[in-house]
Amino acid sequence: MKIFLDTADIEEIRTVARWGILDGVTTNPTLFSKTSGMSYEDVLKEICSITSGPVSAEVVAEDVDGMLTEGRAFAKLAPNIVVKVPMSEEGLEAMSRFADEGIKTNCTLIFTANQGLLAAKAGASLLSPFVGRLDDINQDGMIVVRELAEIVAIHELDTEVLAASIRNPVHMTQAALAGAHVATLPFKVLKQMVRHPLTDSGITQFRSDWEKAREALAARDGGRKKEVAATATKPGE
Ligand code: E4P
Repeated sequence: MKIFLDTADIEEIRTVARWGILDGVTTNPTLFSKTSGMSYEDVLKEICSITSGPVSAEVVAEDVDGMLTEGRAFAKLAPNIVVKVPMSEEGLEAMSRFADEGIKTNCTLIFTANQGLLAAKAGASLLSPFVGRLDDINQDGMIVVRELAEIVAIHELDTEVLAASIRNPVHMTQAALAGAHVATLPFKVLKQMVRHPLTDSGITQFRSDWEKAREALAARDGGRKKEVAATATKPGE
């Protein structure tokens, strides 16, 4: 399963790129609103200079022409831009026009397998079911991921299921088991995936035992040197 970072924060993206596990980035207007000082276009260009993986840039227009105008402008920023289009009648038309123009799309705000199926038929290269937002309203969001992954496999559709709205590390394991091709997650959740209290205590224990072993060796070597020195200076021998 590929891992995308769900953020517009450049430093977070640089950090995860250094870890060697970054396959792409998803942004949206809410994530962009948390950054400051740069235009959305400049943020996207900066992200695309860090990763060559897909970088999703979301349109805010709700009409077809507006989506096409925004999406075409995003696509000119870098070759790895993927235009994020919301699921709607207008979104389907825009995605199908983008597909004709060779512009890749990520269909966002998917909450049912049927919506995902339609987006795939319209030519979206990524389908983004929102797991956490369904969980928030007491529905099992992972069911949509599993159903969509099965539909894509059964019908050999040329698209990928991107588990989005990931809120915790358990979601990541479940998305991988459900057959998601990609999961996009916040930096905070990624850091939670790295840590385990037994890993932390294990590292501390190994360091402590290593230091004890070195001290014991140093003490033994120090004792031997003293013995040799004492033997060498014995009077009359
Ligand atoms: C990513 O493509 C989505 O926009 C994002 O995962 C939504 O997450 P949220 O539901 O936590 O806002």
